[in-house]
Amino acid sequence: MTVTQQEEWNFDEIIDRKGTKAIKWSPKFMEMLFGTGDLLPLWVADMDFRAPQVLIDKLSQRVDHGIFGYTVAGESYSQAVIDWFQRRHNWSIEKDWMIFSPGIVPAINFLIQTFTHPGDKVIIQEPVYYPFASVIRNNGRFVLNNELLLKDDHYQIDFADLKKQCETPRAKMLILCSPHNPVARVWTQEELTELGKICLKNDILVVSDEIHCDLIFPGHEHIPFARINEDFQQNSIICTAPSKTFNIAGLKASNIIIPNEQLRKEFAQTMANVSIRGPTIFGGLALETVYNECEAWLDSLLVYIQENFQFLKEFVEKHLPGVKVLDLEGTYLAWVDFRGLGLNAEKLDEIMKKEAKVGLDDGAMFGESGKGFQRFNLACPKAILKEALERIQEAFKEYLK
Ligand SMILES: Cc1ncc(COP(=O)(O)O)c(C=O)c1O
Repeated sequence: MTVTQQEEWNFDEIIDRKGTKAIKWSPKFMEMLFGTGDLLPLWVADMDFRAPQVLIDKLSQRVDHGIFGYTVAGESYSQAVIDWFQRRHNWSIEKDWMIFSPGIVPAINFLIQTFTHPGDKVIIQEPVYYPFASVIRNNGRFVLNNELLLKDDHYQIDFADLKKQCETPRAKMLILCSPHNPVARVWTQEELTELGKICLKNDILVVSDEIHCDLIFPGHEHIPFARINEDFQQNSIICTAPSKTFNIAGLKASNIIIPNEQLRKEFAQTMANVSIRGPTIFGGLALETVYNECEAWLDSLLVYIQENFQFLKEFVEKHLPGVKVLDLEGTYLAWVDFRGLGLNAEKLDEIMKKEAKVGLDDGAMFGESGKGFQRFNLACPKAILKEALERIQEAFKEYLK
């Protein structure tokens, strides 16, 4: 069957993911996480959209070959990464700078083990993607929280506090989330430069998690941290992947970019020690295919996400007085402020899960300062988003202002 572009990019299509082992739609998984499995899920950051058709075709052809022995990534794999970052982000990566990791969270785990010691301190900026804190703590290191400031519904970095955190004895590393999940900020060149200077001055290694770097909306530009200047390049490690961009998280292919030769050698040794050397047959093929051939799909996706965001914003303004949607500069994750309803954070989440039966990520998961917020995953057909919002309107009706 030939699939037209129109059909291929029909992001409105509702595709049943139940029973496919997708964690987002698994009642068992949701039961474990949220105490109830009967939820309309808009939580974990993957999309309910079918991957680009060319990717499905390439993977199918490879399956048809029928032999799945050991493989190497090869030159074409690194070239696809190099070309992508040059084209989309005006960032020149050298082939040797890349170290493969199946995922970003495992990479951050190994980076912490390589570049810090037990008892050292690692800075994060809450509210932030919650595995950062758990990976730090699971490795016997301590979290230093450079809390983001919320001013006029806009999150900012508290540079005075960052300076203090960086000067703390045994502070060694900062894990930057750029763009930032969950507050959807795309950090500006000025913000990153100020942050980078403070880290450099205090000998703090910057690990920049840029997994959401391709999901950027008009008026904003993703600045790869290492692109800013040579000093930052030598003092940073950039975590990249096509997994969020093209919805291929289940295929496990990420690339950790380390321009500094000494740091790279040390990290390469860590990865070699645990025998993590390259992508699976399907992960490698998927990365090459999406980076080389699926840019138009991404551009259409970004338009669809913006439409969903607009829908969310208008619905909330019209039907959920007291609730506020913060700007979406990047990512497909909208950060919504329910504090105006006057409910305590636990009650808010309880109504969301037990009465609305909508599975959102509760803001408290991202740190104390996330309390009273909920994170919406907008990478779903509009009809699903609409149903979620209608359920929320009904469940919260007595609390709306
Ligand atoms: C900021 C950030 N980093 C990392 C990940 C997950 O990375 P991986 O699945 O490659 O471990 C996510 C997923 O939501 C994320 O939002």
